[in-house]
Amino acid sequence: MNTLQTTFCGISFENPLVLASGILGVTGETMADVVNRGAGGVTTKSWWVTKHEGHKNPVIIANDSYLMNAVGLPDAGIEKSREEITEYRKHTNAPIIANIVAGSVEDFTKITQKATQLHPDIIEVNISCPNVKKEFGNLFSGSCHFAEQMTKSVKNHAGDIPVSIKLSPNVANIADVARACEANGADAITAINTVGPGLRINPELRTPILHNTFGGVSGPAILPIALRCVWDIYEAVKIPIIGTGGITTGRDAIEMLLAGGTLLGVGTALHFRGKDAFSLISQEMEEFCQAEGVKHISELIGAAHQA
Ligand SMILES: Cc1cc2nc3c(=O)[nH]c(=O)nc-3n(C[C@H](O)[C@H](O)[C@H](O)COP(=O)(O)O)c2cc1C
Repeated sequence: MNTLQTTFCGISFENPLVLASGILGVTGETMADVVNRGAGGVTTKSWWVTKHEGHKNPVIIANDSYLMNAVGLPDAGIEKSREEITEYRKHTNAPIIANIVAGSVEDFTKITQKATQLHPDIIEVNISCPNVKKEFGNLFSGSCHFAEQMTKSVKNHAGDIPVSIKLSPNVANIADVARACEANGADAITAINTVGPGLRINPELRTPILHNTFGGVSGPAILPIALRCVWDIYEAVKIPIIGTGGITTGRDAIEMLLAGGTLLGVGTALHFRGKDAFSLISQEMEEFCQAEGVKHISELIGAAHQA
C-alpha cells in the first residue's frame, strides 16, 4: 500500500483528498478531470429531487483568506444527476460521493431512494447549508432532533450504501449532533459545511455585496474552526470523519488527519491554488511523511489526541 492510499467505510481511495461538494462538481466530466489532476475521489454538488433555483448574482466574493458564497444550492434535479454520474463513470473508477439535500423528512426519503438507484459509493447528506434559511428556516443540523430524523429517514432507504451526515459548525455543540447521527445509524460524519453565515458591505453603495445579503465562509480562514469541530467529533463518536474546511496545503491536510479526519474534503483550495491543488497537496503530504518517517497516513489519524 502506498503512503496515502486509504480505506473509508470499506471503500478504497488512492489518496484521502476528495473534492468537497459544490466546487467543480457540476458535470461528470469536470469531476473526472479533478480525479485526473490528483483527487482520490469526488463529491457531487447537492442533489435535489426536482429542479432547484439558486440565488441571484452576485453569489461569491473572495479575498486572500476566505471565500464567501450564497450560491443557494442550484440543481437541475435528479434526472440530470443520472447523466452526471454515468458520464463520470465512463472516465474513472475513483469513488464518487453523492451529496443530497431536501427541505423535509419526506423529501429526504424520496431523494435517497432516487440517489440509491444511481449506485454512488457513499451518500453524503447535506443538513447544514447556511444559505437556504429563508426557504427552510433554521438548519436541520442545528438540532439533535432533526439530525436524528434525517439520519433515520436516509438510512432506512439507502440500502448497503454508506451514509455520511454533513454537519454545520454553526451550532452550540457539534459533538452532540454527531452523537445523535451515530446513534441513528450514520456510517460517517462530514464536517464541516461553510461557517457563518457572514456579511460584507460595499461602503460606497451602502449595500450588502451578496444579493442574498449573507453567505457561508470557506477557505484558509476557517481551518482552525474545522479542526476544532473534527477534534470534538472524533472524541465523541467511533464512526470515521470526512474532515473538511480550509485545507489548502499539505500541512493543513496533515493537521486534519491528526485532529481525526480519515478522508479530507478540499474545496476552496481550488480557488487559491488552481486546478492542480490536489496533486500539489498530496505531494506536500508525501514530502511531510517522508521527512517525518511516517510509513502510512493511518499512523496520523487522530494521533494528536494521544499527545
Ligand atoms: C461555492 C461553494 C458551493 C458549495 N456548495 C455546496 C453544496 O452544494 N453542498 C454542500 O454540502 N456543501 C457545499 N459547499 C460547502 C463545501 O462543500 C465545504 O463544506 C466548505 O466550502 C468548506 O470546505 P473548503 O474550505 O475546503 O471549501 C459549497 C462551498 C462553496 C465555496
